[in-house]
Amino acid sequence: MARVYNFSAGPGTLPEEVLKQASEELLDYKGSGMSVMEMSHRSPWYENIHNKAISDLREIMNIPDNYKVLFLQGGAHLQFSMIPLNLKKNGKADYLVAGTWGKKASAEAKKYLTVNVVASSEDKKFTYHPKVDPSLLTGDADYYHVTTNNTVYGTRLRDKDTTCLKNVPLVADMSSNILSEVYDVSRFGVIYAGAQKNMGPAGVTVVIIREDLIRDTDPMVPTMLQYKTHSESNSLYNTPPCYSIYVCGLVYDWVKRKGGVGVIHAINEKKAALIYDYIDRSNLFKGTVEKYDRSIMNVNFVTGSEELDKKFIREAGERGLVNLKGYRTVGGMRASIYNAMPVEGVQALVEFMKDFEANNI
Ligand SMILES: Cc1ncc(COP(=O)(O)O)c(C=O)c1O
Repeated sequence: MARVYNFSAGPGTLPEEVLKQASEELLDYKGSGMSVMEMSHRSPWYENIHNKAISDLREIMNIPDNYKVLFLQGGAHLQFSMIPLNLKKNGKADYLVAGTWGKKASAEAKKYLTVNVVASSEDKKFTYHPKVDPSLLTGDADYYHVTTNNTVYGTRLRDKDTTCLKNVPLVADMSSNILSEVYDVSRFGVIYAGAQKNMGPAGVTVVIIREDLIRDTDPMVPTMLQYKTHSESNSLYNTPPCYSIYVCGLVYDWVKRKGGVGVIHAINEKKAALIYDYIDRSNLFKGTVEKYDRSIMNVNFVTGSEELDKKFIREAGERGLVNLKGYRTVGGMRASIYNAMPVEGVQALVEFMKDFEANNI
């Protein structure tokens, strides 16, 4: 069986080693005689899997002791609501809108509190990451929300460029770049990420939250939407997405074996540079975002002709380079090169781009 190089934006490619291990353990998990899918979430077998995944994530992200790691459901989308529902105090929050997801998150928050958009790059179709004038941040906001990687447009916010006010919790949607580069967790109040890009299968959302932000909410907030519920039960209040959490655990272990997030980050920078450097030399392909803001996870590019873009995507597929079509509202091409995309996959893509350029210019 031949595996393709899968450039999907999400669910994205997973490390082959992890998939092999999961398949070896599928029918009989470590002598338990059953699959992780069939285990009680209250069994010692599963509890070990659950707690090891949490402790490994704490280790690879260097999460301080005064933070909780939660495994929730409902995708990153549900966090767009849970954040305001749980963090609301003064009834106002700041949002940095750098793409589709930040816009959606801020629209959802407007149902619950007053939203102040401190900066947006919508004026130029989100082709850059907006810079924030700190004087526009609200001193008594309940939180300040950013998206560290814009999956759709291919821009990113680096750790060193992430500013906030001292007493306002910084909340980050890291769905598409968690574990791809080092972020200093201690600077954030909440980090959340759907698993299906850099961590595992869809179905689980990781929330990393500073303990003082886990507090009583308005009693009307459903029990399942309160961080307190999940924090007090170690994310075992109801049946968690056990199998997805198990695979996330295998991925965390894989990250550790690779040498950690710092090592993976260096590889990611090299992979991204291979494509961007070629795009910058090419007479056919053009990058679509400002250079400094370029994402190292989602690389967007175009030929300038819709016909050629379609031909590129079709012929790439014939070479086993799949899911290169840009987001439905954006068009062009998008190569998502998450942690699990091997360097060889990126090299194969660049080789194909060169051939395509030679044949079509
Ligand atoms: C940055 C970001 N936030 C949020 C989402 C929505 O995630 P979910 O489908 O898990 O709700 C996505 C999905 O692509 C994303 O890339």
